[in-house]
Amino acid sequence: MTPDEIHRTPSAMLDTLMSVDEAIFTRRTCRKFRKDPVSPETLTKIIDAARYAPSSCNLQLWDFVLVNDPETKAEVAEETRYVHLAPVSLFVSYGNNYTRENYAWVQSAAAAIQNMMLMAHSLGVASCWVDTLGDVDRIRRILGLPAEREILALVLFGYPELIPKAPRRRAIDILLHYDKYKGRLNWPSSDDPEEWTLEQIRDFQMAKIRNGARYNKPVPSERDAVLEALEDFVDVQEGRWLDVLPLTGLYTEEIASRYPKVDLTFAEMTDQVFEFVQDRAPRTLRHELYPDAFHEGPEGYDVMSLIFRLEGYPRDERRQFLTTMRRRIKDDGQLFLAFINRRSYHRPLRWMRGRIGHSGVEYALAPDPSLGPFKAATPGEIRADLHATGWRVRDRRHFFAIPPGDEIEFRAGRKGRKVKLAGQALTRISQLLQPVGPVLGPVARVHAWDVVPA
Ligand SMILES: Cc1cc2nc3c(=O)[nH]c(=O)nc-3n(C[C@H](O)[C@H](O)[C@H](O)COP(=O)(O)O)c2cc1C
Repeated sequence: MTPDEIHRTPSAMLDTLMSVDEAIFTRRTCRKFRKDPVSPETLTKIIDAARYAPSSCNLQLWDFVLVNDPETKAEVAEETRYVHLAPVSLFVSYGNNYTRENYAWVQSAAAAIQNMMLMAHSLGVASCWVDTLGDVDRIRRILGLPAEREILALVLFGYPELIPKAPRRRAIDILLHYDKYKGRLNWPSSDDPEEWTLEQIRDFQMAKIRNGARYNKPVPSERDAVLEALEDFVDVQEGRWLDVLPLTGLYTEEIASRYPKVDLTFAEMTDQVFEFVQDRAPRTLRHELYPDAFHEGPEGYDVMSLIFRLEGYPRDERRQFLTTMRRRIKDDGQLFLAFINRRSYHRPLRWMRGRIGHSGVEYALAPDPSLGPFKAATPGEIRADLHATGWRVRDRRHFFAIPPGDEIEFRAGRKGRKVKLAGQALTRISQLLQPVGPVLGPVARVHAWDVVPA
């Protein structure tokens, strides 16, 4: 944005501020902005709102850096691509050397950010609060900020192209407590399904689904491998197919288009997930609610699929659904099963991911392709579950004893330049090791099995 491009906002517009409650209840995070610039007057008004935010001991140690210069922007974009999303990119920093008590510097910065976003909204300007910043120290150096000025966030401003639907909020009676905390945590701080109730899994999935499909991007090599195995194992033109707990429906969509004549039903836990899956499917599918309708449902299925879902449920639960599946499948039917092998690079890669900053519970809980608790399984464990519930393995395929290039880049690419470089180096190593891949089956990450009634 150059000064020439900036047009003046009519002063009348600055006078038509909305009420506080309208601003609070109608503001939305915007991720799709128009290119139109925001005028200096409007920006000044927004920064003015920041100045009037509360700050710890009234120290007002904010410094805001507006990044306009294309070269600076390009350099910063190596750490966070968000700077390319909107016409205004404002980095928010706060002095961290005076007010360290109780994260006072974070609180003071956050108060200013919220003031700015509400003021912007009341002026018709949309915003996005961004903490996906890569190496903030490098950004700080690029922007010339001193070491004491910690960058807390980037805030984007611009006129909206698309405003998302309001995400649902937790109810007041759940989050407000009188005198003593009387609730229970929504979700455990653990990624082990054994520590989750079915109700918590359901609730977490709904929260993730609310955020939309951007949380469901597959690694292309992984998706291709699963689909290759699926087409190898399952050769049906028609008949009845039950896709069990497909969650976001990534593979349900593929099954629906690759097997256009099969009568496809999927079982999931909530109406919201039904809608999400149905929206992406190329045709209308049947669905049934898990667990009740699923456990009581009709028999006679020709094919079933269970793709990366055993790992997301407590062991008792998965034995229960495998038992029901066995009852509902025809004696000459088949189950397509895919799972992530714990005895593979999956675990070290997750550990590494934690080390580069993706260590919040959310990341541990949401390793693709799952959205929720997830514990990779060993082939022995899965074989025992199948055996105990009346199934036997007829054929098997495995993929990725060595991480494919796109997986490394997929996991690393989101987190700044250094990690990206490390990812590229690992990609080269994995390419060199590719020839020995086939003998490393037992340590392959993705297993696809053709399973039939015992
Ligand atoms: C501390 C913080 C960090 C955030 N970081 C991001 C981010 O990196 N990327 C993004 O798209 N949204 C980010 N958001 C926006 C949230 O996703 C958004 O506020 C939430 O989904 C609720 O939607 P709403 O703001 O429309 O009410 C962030 C919000 C906060 C408060």
